[in-house]
Amino acid sequence: MIPQVTSWRPGAGLFPLGAGARVRGPQAGLARDLLGLPPDGDGPAEITLRLVDDAALGPEGYVLTVTPERADVAAAAEAGLRWGVQTMRQLRTPAGLPCGAVRDVPRHAWRGVMIDVARWWRPLSFLYAYVDLLALHKFNVLHLHLTDDQGWRFEVRAHPRLTEAGAYRRRSPAGHARDGVSDDTPHGGFYTQRELRELAAYAAARGVTVVPEIEFPGHSQAAVAACPWLGHPGDEPVEVRTTWGISPHVLNVGDRAVAFARDVLDELCEVFPSPYVHIGGDEVRGEEWARSPEAARRVADEGLPGPAALLGWWGRLLAGHLRGLGRRAVAWDDMLDHDPPEDMVIMAWRGVDRVEAALRAGHDVVAAPHTHTYLDYAESDGPGEPVSISGPLPLETVYGFDAGDAVLGLQAQLWGEYLPTRERFDYNAFPRLCAVAEAAWSRGRDLGGFTRRLSAHLPLLDELGVRYRRPGHAGASGLAEGARHVRV
Ligand code: ACM
Repeated sequence: MIPQVTSWRPGAGLFPLGAGARVRGPQAGLARDLLGLPPDGDGPAEITLRLVDDAALGPEGYVLTVTPERADVAAAAEAGLRWGVQTMRQLRTPAGLPCGAVRDVPRHAWRGVMIDVARWWRPLSFLYAYVDLLALHKFNVLHLHLTDDQGWRFEVRAHPRLTEAGAYRRRSPAGHARDGVSDDTPHGGFYTQRELRELAAYAAARGVTVVPEIEFPGHSQAAVAACPWLGHPGDEPVEVRTTWGISPHVLNVGDRAVAFARDVLDELCEVFPSPYVHIGGDEVRGEEWARSPEAARRVADEGLPGPAALLGWWGRLLAGHLRGLGRRAVAWDDMLDHDPPEDMVIMAWRGVDRVEAALRAGHDVVAAPHTHTYLDYAESDGPGEPVSISGPLPLETVYGFDAGDAVLGLQAQLWGEYLPTRERFDYNAFPRLCAVAEAAWSRGRDLGGFTRRLSAHLPLLDELGVRYRRPGHAGASGLAEGARHVRV
């Protein structure tokens, strides 16, 4: 099983998990779906799902007890029942479910995976498949990176230009960014609010909260291209960025840009019920603010020490707006140096030291250090690895990451630049996501045990059509680099 359960006591015999099995209790529909059982099972075998008063299980823990007659999942809340069903799914063999007892409680409350849909638009079928894969591994957060310099993917009714113009770019890099070669193929696409609402509901029904991210005030070139009044007038018109890297084009600090940000967050919160909303805040280049008279006025009016402090001003403003909507802001750890509000969740990406700094400053912290959780990094430095932004980040390093008990949780990142297709994405994601799942859910580390359980788990990934990187296989020959998804 992956992630490893808290305790497992084997029993004797098998529960016959066949088409005749009856399923009763809350989440019975999901259990039938995930276990492939018809709604009208009438055999003697019975799966029972029960809510019990056991505070020690917390909101997500469960007890699974399997005998030859019955498989019983008990939990204090429905989330625990869902994870119990996922465990059954992993335990099952063609002959049935082995008898025994599992007691399982997650270590971390936030077990996330970030998927970048800004660099490459991904079909909805891709996102649904990943929701299923996340839930299978007991991840409970899908962080969707919806906007960046290279594309705006979230429909905003008040500002239709964002998706009419900001969702498309003229061309994309081909090969590594440093080679400066382009494919000259337009790329783009966006998601309607209805599509995202349905995705969020589907995910919620499987125990996964979709946490949306809109990048403010940097990584905003697509927004500025679509709505030039958001940016800083220059000699050249700005287009949706066609190269990787960090754009100098950031949002200005005028009242109209502030009203825009509020409009976007209002609509975002109508679509996503998540209690958390990510506002970006990373890698904000300051050259436009440094030479902007409007920024100088804002700095003076707000009594800020200088234009760089406008990042914190943006962060406090957006977090305050979200607070008014009953949500909590999450930001990348760059915000930590700019007086963030106390209730801001810090997503610490620049290193383990940033996790510690954010904890020292009293924040709730999601550990996302690039040194351990950036799965877009190559797994090895072998010559056969496909192009990537950095690396190597071996499976063992990912598995070995211990974020400590003080964090809210931890999260894997899959930045999209070099992962244009599902196939490329799978190759980078798996099996390292299995290691993150275990680092997030389980206490303790046992690399030998993990490696053995991973071997037993890979056939399930095969069955689900995941094109994972075979452990120990330093190379990716045969991976199709073409077939990029374009929705126009
Ligand atoms: C980041 O990798 N810029 C958060």
